[in-house]
Formats: sequence, structure tokens, C-alpha cells
Amino acid sequence: MSKTAPLIKLNDGTLCPAIGFGTGTALYGQDCAASVTQAINAGFTHLDGAQVYNNEEHLGAGIKAAMAEKSLARDDLYIVTKLKPKVNDVEGALVESLRKLEVDYVNLYLIHAPPRPFDRDALRNLWTAMEVVKSKGLARSIGVSNFTVKDLEAILTPDAEAGFEPKVVPSVNQIEFHPYVWKEAEPIVEFCLQKGIKPESYGGLVPLQRVTGGHVEKVLPAIAERYKNSGIHIEPAQILEKWILQKGAIVVTTSSKKKRLEEYLAVPELPDLTAEEIQSIEGKEESSTLHKRVYMANIFEF
Ligand SMILES: NC(=O)c1ccc[n+]([C@@H]2O[C@H](COP(=O)([O-])OP(=O)(O)OC[C@H]3O[C@@H](n4cnc5c(N)ncnc54)[C@H](OP(=O)(O)O)[C@@H]3O)[C@@H](O)[C@H]2O)c1
Repeated sequence: MSKTAPLIKLNDGTLCPAIGFGTGTALYGQDCAASVTQAINAGFTHLDGAQVYNNEEHLGAGIKAAMAEKSLARDDLYIVTKLKPKVNDVEGALVESLRKLEVDYVNLYLIHAPPRPFDRDALRNLWTAMEVVKSKGLARSIGVSNFTVKDLEAILTPDAEAGFEPKVVPSVNQIEFHPYVWKEAEPIVEFCLQKGIKPESYGGLVPLQRVTGGHVEKVLPAIAERYKNSGIHIEPAQILEKWILQKGAIVVTTSSKKKRLEEYLAVPELPDLTAEEIQSIEGKEESSTLHKRVYMANIFEF
């Protein structure tokens, strides 16, 4: 029996698997069907797509194949897509995604990125339209991605004069979240947790592949050694994902390898990192030289 990710309750009462399989980055614009089927066969039930990845048909095909192979029902899976940046027809775009994915609803629909330059009215209009697709049942939950605190405040704060009365608090904010952006991500994560918005990390393994030679690589062996002394083998990626989960966030990751997919799903069962280990991963003392953002540089201030 393959492991599955534990379920986390979102602010609207729905349950979201704590670790998701993504079809962007390495699979961007690719036929990801076989990778998606492999991920579901490994135990993933949370599948993260986006209109801009230009592969929703393949995500849908991979889901369909795995459902047949494993006799899964639609309710066994948690399917996410994201509104393409600069698109204002929120419902039309989602209906098109549902057609490509061959499903009647998604579990979670995210605004992929806030408009830039910052535009309060555009944010409010987008959020109101997101609330409509939720009320119509086309998306069970709605949320955002790459939102700063200022973007979040714009859609959380009612403005009677402008006729803006938000009814739904976003369930999720999916952001780049790894030790090398922690300085900037931490205040966003803290704000989200205070407001009942679940932070979600993408790019969590950046310190292992895209930005190498940093302090994270130096501290991981000592942490792995400490686990080994307790009779537990832990992989570098598992340490980083454990760090993300201990921050109260959901992980969205990916791998072409079945072994790694299974390792990711084993992370929740591994014993926690200690406070000292967490501190060494964050490398606070090196914070001035830490910042290495990989994605969405146009959205954030640095
Ligand atoms: N909302 C957004 O704007 C946004 C932006 C980016 C991504 N995302 C979502 O997040 C998902 C994951 O993004 P990501 O690819 O950046 O995730 P990630 O978890 O940071 O990286 C996953 C990659 O790490 C590699 N990897 C795993 N273990 C490794 C190790 N020990 N050493 C070196 N490389 C290792 C895997 O390659 P192998 O195949 O070799 O295992 C895989 O390609 C995307 O698919 C997408 O769904 C969202």
C-alpha cells in the first residue's frame, strides 16, 4: 500500500493533502500525463496545475489513466489549477480548464499572480469573480499565489464606499518558500497564518538544485547524521520538506523519479527537526547574503 499525504483542514472546512505533485517548472508545456500517473501510483492525490503551464489536457489524461488503473473516484483526488496572469475572465478561464482536465470542478482555484504594478481595483474585481466560481461549485476552494501582504490586504479589507465586501478569505497562498527566500517569505507566512490562510511552498528544493553552494548544503549532512544516529535514513530533500511542513505550510513539489516521490510522501512520518536544526537551515546569521529568489522576481520587491 503506498503512503498518502496527511490531510490538512483549510479555512472553508475542506481537506487538502499536505504534499502536492506539481506540473509546472520541469513539466511546463510538456506532456505530463505519464508523470502524473506515476505520481498518483506512488500515492500522490494532490495534483497542482495551472493554465499557464499549457499542459492541463495532459494533467487530465494522467489523472484519467490513474483513476482507471487504481479504481479511484473523483473525490479521492485533489485537483488544483490557477488563473493565467493578465486574464480577467475568471469563470470563462476556469470552465476552459475544467474542459481540458475533464472534470466538473477543481478542488482549489488560485489566482496565479497579482497584477503588477499593484492595482487594488483589479485585485478586488478578480477576488469577487473568484468568489462567484466558488459559489457556483466550479471550485470547492479559492486562493491566491505569489501574493504579498499588501496584495492580501487589498482583497481582505472591506471598503463600503467602493462597494467591496469580500465574503471569502483565501484558503491558500502558494509562494516561493525555501531557506534562501525565508527573509522575505516569513512575514507573508506569518500574516497568512494569522488570517487563517494556509501558506503553500513551491520551489522548496531550490537549495539542492537551482541555487547551489549555499549554507543549506553545509548544514544538511550534520542533520542527516543526527537522524542516522537514531536509526533513520533521511534524504536532503526530505529535510527541506520537513522544514516547510514544520512552518505550518503545504508542500508542492515534483520529481521524475518514483523513489523520490515515495520519499516525499514519507516526510510527515519522520521525526521533527529540532529548533537548532531549523535555525541552522534558516541560517539567520547569514541573512544579509541569503536572498536568492528564483521565481516571480517582478512581483516581489527584491
Ligand atoms: N505558483 C507559482 O508561481 C509556481 C512557481 C513554480 C512552481 N510552482 C509549482 O510547484 C511545483 C514544484 O516546483 P519546483 O519544481 O520548483 O519544486 P521543487 O520541489 O523545488 O523541486 C523539484 C525538483 O527537484 C529535483 N530534486 C529532488 N531532489 C533533488 C536532489 N536531492 N538534488 C537535486 N535535485 C533534486 C527534482 O528532480 P528529479 O526529477 O530529478 O527528481 C525536481 O525536478 C511545480 O511543478 C508547480 O506546480 C508554482
